[in-house]
Amino acid sequence: MHRDEVTEIFQQQAASYDSQWAKTAPIRHCLHLLLDSQFAELPADARILCVGVGTGTEMAHLAAQNPGWHFTAVEPSAAMLEVCRQRAEREGFAARCTFHAGYLESLPATDAHDAATCLLVSQFILEPQARSAFFAEIAERLKPGGLLASSDLAADISSAEYDVLLGAWVNMMTAADLSAEAIERMRKAYANDVGVLSPERTAAIITAGGFALPVQFFQAGLIHAWLSRRV
Ligand SMILES: C[S@@+](CC[C@H](N)C(=O)[O-])C[C@H]1O[C@@H](n2cnc3c(N)ncnc32)[C@H](O)[C@@H]1O
Repeated sequence: MHRDEVTEIFQQQAASYDSQWAKTAPIRHCLHLLLDSQFAELPADARILCVGVGTGTEMAHLAAQNPGWHFTAVEPSAAMLEVCRQRAEREGFAARCTFHAGYLESLPATDAHDAATCLLVSQFILEPQARSAFFAEIAERLKPGGLLASSDLAADISSAEYDVLLGAWVNMMTAADLSAEAIERMRKAYANDVGVLSPERTAAIITAGGFALPVQFFQAGLIHAWLSRRV
């Protein structure tokens, strides 16, 4: 899928996105808890780049924990970013945010960031070299040694283990009240439109984008997260 088609899908989902995923909040909460521990060394006035920020759940969590941090929110879907902006205003941290409706390449020059988040985004780039180039664009916006916390769906989809994980994943979605239509859409998307690669290949793609030692610090079902450091 072309990236603008991906953006269009999120445009359509923006209004219902948070309610659609409400019942999977425990996964996000655990990821965010561990993210705090990975970002614990950052300075009190850190600048954080949130790529593919969506409706802003990770940014809102980090903003609540770290009142001195400033955020650059990058999101190509204007509708998703609007939900994010409203959340930031409601929760009182909008003044610490710069919102960019667009891709990273069109983000105006800024001071380098101390760290970046990129949660459930790079999986939409199917071609491995383009995916590494995307991580390289993030690296360019970080200070040397800057941290990247990234998550993606990951599995060896040719393995028997994947069938087990996918079955459980779909069961969880069913229990989470996702509509049958939404689950079917997801199954097809995982097969055709999402770059679900093994954890090892995903880590190699991050490394090729200019990051050292991607350490997997989280897994819940198909979601894996890594912490890496700009070379
Ligand atoms: C699955 S959502 C995740 C949102 C948020 N990070 C979260 O974890 O809740 C993926 C988001 O990435 C955005 N996105 C997709 N491709 C992107 C790209 N190439 N650059 C930046 N954002 C992108 C989508 O518009 C969407 O809002």
